[in-house]
Amino acid sequence: MKVLVINASANKERSTTLKLTKTFLEGLGNEASEVEFVTTIGLHINPCRACYACWFKAAGKCVQKDDATEVMEKIRQADLVIWSIPLYAYGVPSHCKALMDRTPSHCVWPTTRPIPRPASISAMPRVSRA
Ligand SMILES: Cc1cc2nc3c(=O)[nH]c(=O)nc-3n(C[C@H](O)[C@H](O)[C@H](O)COP(=O)(O)O)c2cc1C
Repeated sequence: MKVLVINASANKERSTTLKLTKTFLEGLGNEASEVEFVTTIGLHINPCRACYACWFKAAGKCVQKDDATEVMEKIRQADLVIWSIPLYAYGVPSHCKALMDRTPSHCVWPTTRPIPRPASISAMPRVSRA
């Protein structure tokens, strides 16, 4: 199974979210025969323009060309996408949310997706203070 991990931590390799995700990957064992990591921090991803071309004209492809283009192709090729996301202000870090907003036609909203959809899971750790 081809697994794509999309990590949204600004801490990159020091990310606790990534550590948690790697533990999950260990649990997948040999099922995860190929694993690729993408970090959204530092990518240039424009906001969605709400043109709806991905739904009605371009068969799931976004008409904007930036770093999201390559990531969306990786999502298309993956059997499983793991959204590895730390909690920022009770939500998704803005750079990752920009990517998510660009992918509704092929990985977020299943009912309108015109092409096969990879399985998708997400992990969002938060600070725990006892
Ligand atoms: C900008 C920012 C906003 C955050 N907002 C929250 C929050 O709303 N609730 C919370 O419990 N933790 C919040 N945190 C803490 C992170 O979710 C937590 O430290 C997380 O484990 C960081 O993961 P990472 O090591 O993968 O970057 C925030 C951290 C940052 C940097």
